[in-house]
Amino acid sequence: MSHCLVTGGAGFIGSHLTERLLAQGHQVTVLDNLSTGRAVNLAAVEGHPRMRMITGSITDQLALTESVRGVDTIYHMAAAVGVKLVADNPVLTIETNIYPTEFLLRLAVQGGQRIYIASTSEAYGKNPKEVWTEEDDLVFGPTSKPRWAYGASKAIDEFLALAYHKMYGLKVVCGRFFNVVGPRQVGNYGMVVPRFVDQALKGGPVVVYDDGSQVRCFAHVKEVVDCVIELTNTPAAGGRIFNIGGDQPVSVLDLARTVIEKVNPQVPIEFIPYVQAYGDNFEDVQRRVPCVDRLYSTIGRKPGMPLSQILDDVIAWKRS
Ligand SMILES: NC(=O)c1ccc[n+]([C@@H]2O[C@H](COP(=O)([O-])OP(=O)(O)OC[C@H]3O[C@@H](n4cnc5c(N)ncnc54)[C@H](O)[C@@H]3O)[C@@H](O)[C@H]2O)c1
Repeated sequence: MSHCLVTGGAGFIGSHLTERLLAQGHQVTVLDNLSTGRAVNLAAVEGHPRMRMITGSITDQLALTESVRGVDTIYHMAAAVGVKLVADNPVLTIETNIYPTEFLLRLAVQGGQRIYIASTSEAYGKNPKEVWTEEDDLVFGPTSKPRWAYGASKAIDEFLALAYHKMYGLKVVCGRFFNVVGPRQVGNYGMVVPRFVDQALKGGPVVVYDDGSQVRCFAHVKEVVDCVIELTNTPAAGGRIFNIGGDQPVSVLDLARTVIEKVNPQVPIEFIPYVQAYGDNFEDVQRRVPCVDRLYSTIGRKPGMPLSQILDDVIAWKRS
């Protein structure tokens, strides 16, 4: 059994990962500053004899150094997350998403740990291809539009990870998450599924930006964390980038309709322009669909839970 560090372990994905690692018999240290994460996310494993919680920031080099001591695998999930949060806090983004990642990579070189870096589909920017593969171009808009800072910051993390792999043989894997959903995800930062479910449960309206023709793919968090663990433990994945997501495209309007059908068919849909939701300096990505062949051929699995089942799980959690 190994000792794992999960940065951001009190967050949405990090808490599911922590639970899974504990269930597999590992020892887990969590480092989280509880900024967007919440202690209650770890309620099910609170006081677990193999879990240690450090409340601190990844921007604190002493805390980071202390948290990797005795650890053999690092899952780096902590970040300033989401386009809106990042656009509103550009300095925080650089301080959180870039410098600590590099410091952690250096620590992992020194300590010989394996390390997983959480990246994002936002790294593709607005690449117009129908389906994105890992070798596709990253197509960002101008730096005057802060929404691109999130994807760009994660792209820099990937460059750093690949550089440390090449120069020092670091065992590192980067996973680009597409829309990950499930219990514990909150809608505050613009995440579409929890927002729609909350709105529908309150009687609506369910608010769709623009005309709802944007296309996304959704994956259940439990399947995603299994892929993360498997990738990190697979030597052939070292020094590579992987898409991790569902590969069944759905429009945002169809998503809204499905949520409404499941929660309360009387709930209306309201369409609002992006400018009203995000201000006039915003650009969205119309289509975001991953090719997950590399993931599947490397670890023999990919997220496959149907959207309907994912939504049932989120709705049941919200209702409870
Ligand atoms: N949820 C998704 O669909 C999605 C998609 C793409 C990428 N990601 C990436 O996955 C990772 C986890 O995202 P999530 O959806 O669970 O979001 P989240 O906000 O729930 O998790 C992030 C966690 O990091 C913690 N954190 C933030 N700044 C910190 C700091 N300075 N020091 C210590 N902890 C800090 C937060 O408190 C939180 O617990 C992130 O790296 C994110 O960029 C998520």
